[in-house]
Amino acid sequence: MYLGLDLGTSGIKALLIDDAQRVVDEASAPLEVQRPAPGWSEQRPADWITAATAALDALAARRDLSGVRGVGLSGHMHGATLLDASDNVLRPCILWNDTRAHAEAAALDADPAFRAVSGNVVFPGFTAPKLVWVRDAEPEIFRRTARVLLPKDYLRLWLTGETVSEPSDAAGTSWLDTGARDWSDELLGACGLGREHMPRLVEGSAPSGGLRREVADLWGLAPGTVVAGGGGDNAASAIGVGAVGAGRGFVSLGTSGVLFAASDAYSPAPETSVHTFCHAVPDTWHQMGVILSATDSLNWYAGLVGKDAASLTGALGPLQAPGRALFLPYLGGERTPHNDAAVRGALIGLEHGTDTAAGTRAVLEGVAHAFRDNLDALRATGTRIDSLIAVGGGSRSAYWLQAIATALDLPVDVPEAGDFGAALGAARLGMMAATGAGSEIATPPKIARTVAPDARLRAAFADAHGRYRQTYTALKELS
Ligand code: XUL
Repeated sequence: MYLGLDLGTSGIKALLIDDAQRVVDEASAPLEVQRPAPGWSEQRPADWITAATAALDALAARRDLSGVRGVGLSGHMHGATLLDASDNVLRPCILWNDTRAHAEAAALDADPAFRAVSGNVVFPGFTAPKLVWVRDAEPEIFRRTARVLLPKDYLRLWLTGETVSEPSDAAGTSWLDTGARDWSDELLGACGLGREHMPRLVEGSAPSGGLRREVADLWGLAPGTVVAGGGGDNAASAIGVGAVGAGRGFVSLGTSGVLFAASDAYSPAPETSVHTFCHAVPDTWHQMGVILSATDSLNWYAGLVGKDAASLTGALGPLQAPGRALFLPYLGGERTPHNDAAVRGALIGLEHGTDTAAGTRAVLEGVAHAFRDNLDALRATGTRIDSLIAVGGGSRSAYWLQAIATALDLPVDVPEAGDFGAALGAARLGMMAATGAGSEIATPPKIARTVAPDARLRAAFADAHGRYRQTYTALKELS
């Protein structure tokens, strides 16, 4: 058996697969985000361990885990977890959707070395500008920072005692030479840091260490069980849905929205605000467009109208043509294609007849339009996407998937099993590290159904997308 641990923004999932990669069991535990100031988004690393413990307790109560041969890790990317020389956490982790470091990001991005070496725009949510913010705003903490870890790598430290990362997550720091899959001394130096502040790198499918006895004994796991390098949550999801070769992609409806395309070569295109990162298996890369608020937008609206998100989407019938109400999901700024930390969301075109359902449709359509923007940005780099697999909690909404398929004019495949993307990918990486298997074991899931674009509504969605684009231009002038 193999165990995948996925540290998501809203919860941690532990997934167990057998040698034939069948899902044996899963358990999860929720996590919260603290927003102490506008644009800030933080989590306490100790809460990750509490949540991982709860999920593993639940799994171990139902299953004998002594047969687990490999463990893999996945996690939300870009978070800055700062440790002192004794591995104590110095402050809450600054998360991927925190935009406080937008001025620092713009300053780093203006240095041509960052785009040239890292292959990406320096976005405010990436790790490097956060460290520059800490250097200036919290100098005492910066002075005591001995090591910077990404969120899942902090879990690894707890599990194995090792400080290790891997290229797929490291590519989201702005400190990686993404083509060479190694830290860049030049980029680290530009932030007042050096290689000594960084974890050692192994490939995502390679061993990174073994389980500490103290941890293994808690759940009857074998001490020393190999823990794979793992992957950032998007690369890990790709391993989970078999998106490794060129032309294969997925659409992820999690807290963030991601349109992902695997590629055989490293072909950065930072001018499009598309992300170009290493994949979780050697010698492969991927591109993706990232929306900062996907299910976060729906959850925001659900809170506003005092309903829960599932009942809102469940009450919608078949896909309708977009109405007058138009939603722009920029609750915390946007990454692809705008790289705009200052813009904020909007719900416009309201009329007497706009009821809760019309508002829900507008929110789901708005995220679908954001995905259309991402598709256009990916295509502008020459990337091909023929079809997409849907992953993430939001993909349980049939209406949302119909809206996305129609807005993108692409078929969307819905996997047969549950929402296992990143956790399954992590477990598969654990299997690769334990057995020496390669990416051939990352096969696509069985497809339960394919959501086809609704040809009757294609023009209406394209029209609404035009209005959506114009509204962004107007909002930008206002912000
Ligand atoms: C990717 C990104 C998010 C997080 C959270 O660049 O910021 O997708 O990984 O899932």
